[in-house]
Amino acid sequence: MTRTARAYTNIALIKYWGKKNKQLKLPYTNSLSLTLDRFYTDTKASIVDSDQDIIYLNQQLLDDAHSKRIRNYLDIVRQFYSFSEHFQIDSVNHVPTSAGFASSASGFAALAAAVNETKQLNLNRRELSILARNGSGSASRSIYGGFVEWIAGNDNASSFAQPIDEHPDIDLSILSVVIDTQNKKISSTVGMENSVKSSPFYPNWVTLVTSEIEEIKQAIAKKDIQKIGEISEHNAMSMHALTLSANPSFTYFAPETIRIIQIIQELRQKGIFAYATIDAGPNVKIICTKESLPKVQTYIEQQLSNVTTVVANIGSGIEYI
Ligand code: DP6
Repeated sequence: MTRTARAYTNIALIKYWGKKNKQLKLPYTNSLSLTLDRFYTDTKASIVDSDQDIIYLNQQLLDDAHSKRIRNYLDIVRQFYSFSEHFQIDSVNHVPTSAGFASSASGFAALAAAVNETKQLNLNRRELSILARNGSGSASRSIYGGFVEWIAGNDNASSFAQPIDEHPDIDLSILSVVIDTQNKKISSTVGMENSVKSSPFYPNWVTLVTSEIEEIKQAIAKKDIQKIGEISEHNAMSMHALTLSANPSFTYFAPETIRIIQIIQELRQKGIFAYATIDAGPNVKIICTKESLPKVQTYIEQQLSNVTTVVANIGSGIEYI
């Protein structure tokens, strides 16, 4: 019996934003994330007698256009490990209705693990992280639980994630605030490419991330949650400054995104622990403590009628079920 691979999504506290090698998805900088327990992808790979991969997502057969990225990825995997079989991929995303989490991190981590299982490649977690990275950069980190650092590296073999603390005993929870938006989404791949190409601040970003990675690792070691919150929020805002300063300028923020950032500042002034982090979309992930989370949640829901919230805690690495 082939087991199903399960991978959880992760939220970057120090963001990956820019590739020095597009084909290999080698980033300019290290990045650091927290794996979450609520959002995951279950994927099973079965070998089929066909010259094409067949991809099901949430029980629906994907057409050529929607399965292209996955089929291209499976071509890379076949080339890496010198085999020729094709797969039927059955992948299910367990994400509370539009929780606003990108599924590419959990998706490609689960896919890499599923192929590893079916083809009995016996990859260790470092090799699995490298394989997942070739699907989507952030997927390299979803191999591990807890706090994870992706080492940028210089070639395919040296760019992988590694755990910092897989089961941290630390009082942090994430409140995801989901904003409905009609905005056409600019993918992270395109957004980071435009930022690297045209933001005059990109070189400063590389310098900033290098120092913030070290600072946040020290804060994690000391369980200094306030420092973790401060550095994470500053890093997220600096990433979004790269989109605003790109030419042409663009932003992932919706009006509600700004409103939530202001609310978080108001809450802090009232002594309530809350820090924002935002990925390539309008939704805000709020870093809270167990104590502050219900207060933050109630306040946000009172102030904004058109948002939904989802609570997540620290999650684990790849599992086979
Ligand atoms: C803002 O991993 O989705 O979430 O490697 O092009 O697939 P590709 O990009 P992706 O980018 C994630 C960007 C981010 C920050 C992060 O997760 O580090």
